[in-house]
Amino acid sequence: MSTNIKFTPTFVQTKNVRAFDTMMQGLLIGRGSLGEGDERLGCVFGRAGRGKTRTVQTWAAKNACVYIETISVWSELDFLQKLCQELGIRQIPGRRGRCFDLIIEKMTLSGMPLFIDEIERFGQKFLEIIRDLVKITGGVVVLIGEEELPHLMKQNRRIWSRTYQAMEFEPVSQSDVLAYVTQCTGLAMSKEATEVMHKASGGDLRIVRRDTINLAHAASNLRRTGEVDGELARIACKQGLQG
Ligand SMILES: Nc1ncnc2c1ncn2[C@@H]1O[C@H](COP(=O)(O)OP(=O)(O)O)[C@@H](O)[C@H]1O
Ligand SMILES: [Mg+2]
Repeated sequence: MSTNIKFTPTFVQTKNVRAFDTMMQGLLIGRGSLGEGDERLGCVFGRAGRGKTRTVQTWAAKNACVYIETISVWSELDFLQKLCQELGIRQIPGRRGRCFDLIIEKMTLSGMPLFIDEIERFGQKFLEIIRDLVKITGGVVVLIGEEELPHLMKQNRRIWSRTYQAMEFEPVSQSDVLAYVTQCTGLAMSKEATEVMHKASGGDLRIVRRDTINLAHAASNLRRTGEVDGELARIACKQGLQG
């Protein structure tokens, strides 16, 4: 009889997820008590693969917020039109100014935070528009990007002075890896196996995911039951590199 270990993708409460929740609480609590012109911009940054997009999307979905991922070819008009669309504006104007007015109206009415992912690739280009949105509506906007994002925001003093907090997505920890494997496969991990997978990942959750899928296959094929040892973990991580 072969053992069949399944990989079930699960959203894991990693350290970064918890830190992000805390940051959002701070931003939202602040919303009621801060005066005009106070900080309502959030900055979430970190190397690719650490779970920024997934974490933000999950939060946004749960709280019925608008999340947009930018596309490199966008002009200012494209950006504003996308915002209109996501905010549920039916007739999307063909001019920037009109788009902007409608966005302001919707954001003010809804009071929901807005998440904008991969914004750093535009450099300063959209930052002024975003600053105006925050300033005029008093709403919360969270920008998400890779390591250069906080530097870009700091270069623009008016943006930075409105930034409530910059949160870095850190490399995933050993306990994150352990939680991930356990929750997605049900496998029990030895300390050594966790260390091996953590090291192989370099802190990247995308690699943890890939190696965990391999681990589930390897455990099934080799009919391993019980705790995953270092050897089996090494097999899974090595397959990851080859495949
Ligand atoms: N908290 C989480 N629980 C489970 N899987 C996650 C979690 N966060 C991210 N992932 C997965 O890890 C991979 C990388 O995440 P992603 O959000 O795209 O990272 P980033 O935006 O930082 O590059 C994706 O496959 C994603 O589904
Ligand atoms: Mg991303």
